Amino acid sequence: MSWTNLILLLILLVGHVEICVTLINRIHSLRIQQEQLEKFRHIVDFFIISVLIILLIIPGWKYPGLLVDGKWNELHLIWKFYFACCALGSLGFLFSIIRWNIYRIPSIQKENHTEVINISKELNRKPVKQGHYSWMASIPGNQIFDVEFTEKIFKLPMMLKENGELTILHLTDFHYSGVLDLSFYEKVIEHAQQMKPDIIFFTGDLIDNVELRSWIPETLGKLSAPLGCYFILGNHDWNYEPDKTRETLKDSGWIDVSSSVIKFRFHDTNLELGGLELPWMGTYPEFQADKENNFRILLSHSPDHFKWAQSQNVDLMLSGHNHGGQVVLPVIGPVFAPSIFGVRYASGVFLQSGTLMSVLRGLAGIHPLRLNCRPEIVKYRIVSSLNSQE
Ligand SMILES: [Fe+2]
Repeated sequence: MSWTNLILLLILLVGHVEICVTLINRIHSLRIQQEQLEKFRHIVDFFIISVLIILLIIPGWKYPGLLVDGKWNELHLIWKFYFACCALGSLGFLFSIIRWNIYRIPSIQKENHTEVINISKELNRKPVKQGHYSWMASIPGNQIFDVEFTEKIFKLPMMLKENGELTILHLTDFHYSGVLDLSFYEKVIEHAQQMKPDIIFFTGDLIDNVELRSWIPETLGKLSAPLGCYFILGNHDWNYEPDKTRETLKDSGWIDVSSSVIKFRFHDTNLELGGLELPWMGTYPEFQADKENNFRILLSHSPDHFKWAQSQNVDLMLSGHNHGGQVVLPVIGPVFAPSIFGVRYASGVFLQSGTLMSVLRGLAGIHPLRLNCRPEIVKYRIVSSLNSQE
């Protein structure tokens, strides 16, 4: 046995898995129906396992038998090419780990207070229904019921009265699939309403089962705020009669911001609120050409539009979609995120070219599994960074 070659081969195998994961993440960011995505995922999963086995048997044990003192230069040209790709995959994986470990919250975020509420304990039972994935709820360490209710203070260029602030409640990715029952969402909404924001935003992925649209009046429909409740939809909603979901939300008191810009006044500020559901639905919202002193907020289901938001001088962009990866490995970080940027914006706060983007981990998902990645509801307190208002 050649131990050096075994280690090198294992590094290349990691690269092979990274290539497949990269492909899965990018394909899931595109406008492809859920059914097709699941088929694609099965094919890639099969590819990951089968290539691993073939790789160990053929170049590993047989031709040229790298694990038993075979030489790398005796490899067939196809294997040489694939191993070169795997080496790049391994480097990409290493880069991703370094990026995860050096990530720092931008200084524009001044404070962060979190209270974790275990919804299961409050209900005295696990609010899970029997179904395809319900067994996952029993995995040790699973945090699906440990909901974080967080308050973050952002200092942004907004004209406010002295000591004034705008409070925003951000909800995203509720995923009514039927795995978590209605009582879970009712309890979360009860706590969310107690956060008493000025305005409430929902940034998509509500419905994974058309029959559960009937939950909307009992859950999101119970919320209210002085400046109103605004929503956009996400890729999962796109799969399940989105027009009917829009109507039900509107009937429950919510305002649809999809593909449009809504303007209103708050203190001394003209607020512009845009909604973006691309690549799945609608168009880019048209902000007015001259930003002047307006404060611009963008609700975008996917964080993939961060660059576009910067080009539009958006001050605050709110997103969900990536669920924080749902499983966050120690040191390595998250692995899966349905984004063109992979796990780069899995969750967190990011500042680039004057645009602050907050990507939430959301509340749920089709798979009731969250490890080291709690569900979250966030209230932002926007305070002014303008000198005259400090
Ligand atoms: Fe989602």
